[in-house]
Amino acid sequence: MATVLITGSARGIGFELVKQYAAAGDRVYATTRTPASADALNAFAADSDGLVTVHAMDVGDMASVQAFAEEIGDTPLDIVINNAGVWGGLETQIFDNMDYDNWAFEFNVMAMGPWRVMQTFWDNVLASDQKKIVTMTSQVSAHAYDHIVGYSYASAKAAVNRLVTALAEEKKDTGITLALMHPGWVKTDMAGDVADIEPVESAIGVHKVINEMTHADTGKFLKWDGGIHPW
Ligand SMILES: NC(=O)c1ccc[n+]([C@@H]2O[C@H](COP(=O)([O-])OP(=O)(O)OC[C@H]3O[C@@H](n4cnc5c(N)ncnc54)[C@H](OP(=O)(O)O)[C@@H]3O)[C@@H](O)[C@H]2O)c1
Repeated sequence: MATVLITGSARGIGFELVKQYAAAGDRVYATTRTPASADALNAFAADSDGLVTVHAMDVGDMASVQAFAEEIGDTPLDIVINNAGVWGGLETQIFDNMDYDNWAFEFNVMAMGPWRVMQTFWDNVLASDQKKIVTMTSQVSAHAYDHIVGYSYASAKAAVNRLVTALAEEKKDTGITLALMHPGWVKTDMAGDVADIEPVESAIGVHKVINEMTHADTGKFLKWDGGIHPW
């Protein structure tokens, strides 16, 4: 049984990942900014025989991250999934109209947020058997992707890519595997119905890739379907 921490797990891909890990019999710490309104996640957790518990954690706020860290103490965490993400809308992140507050907000959640989580729970991961940290990025962060879809979102994801590849190199000898993951273009609140795949398909793929991931994958940009994402 693995112990798993998932950020942003009340809806979308995060919630489907909670279901995948619980179905595999793993212990899941499902975190959300607002447990009080996470009705579907709370109902799922209540029915999980204690496998899933719901906790407050806003990855944009260090005090909130530290408060959750105090809750779990030195519990080993086999897998940490930096899933939380925000999309401020396309119309306010184009060349002619950039919302700088939203840019800072997206950067705080999707670049600094994973950093806060990695830094805070590093020793928990180090104490585990699997030692895996996976950060959700996006194909739009890759230079190889042929068009930009939102400058602030893409640049926040590009920043987290660099943070993860650099940290993977620095910490290679610790045995912790740090990988980036493109989860597909997924029909969630973020991408809408125009996207390609359902959240459950993405989560099944991400779950399988993480299961099969080894330390040789540290620093890699992986895809939900098992491939390597071109940069
Ligand atoms: N959908 C896609 O096509 C796609 C493609 C590439 C990458 N991604 C990435 O995949 C991840 C999941 O996306 P999704 O499509 O499932 O999006 P989603 O349905 O919009 O869900 C985003 C989740 O992130 C949480 N969140 C936002 N800000 C947070 C914060 N400060 N602290 C903690 N949690 C926070 C939200 O929590 P609340 O419920 O509290 O709002 C929500 O649970 C994101 O990192 C996203 O960028 C998605």
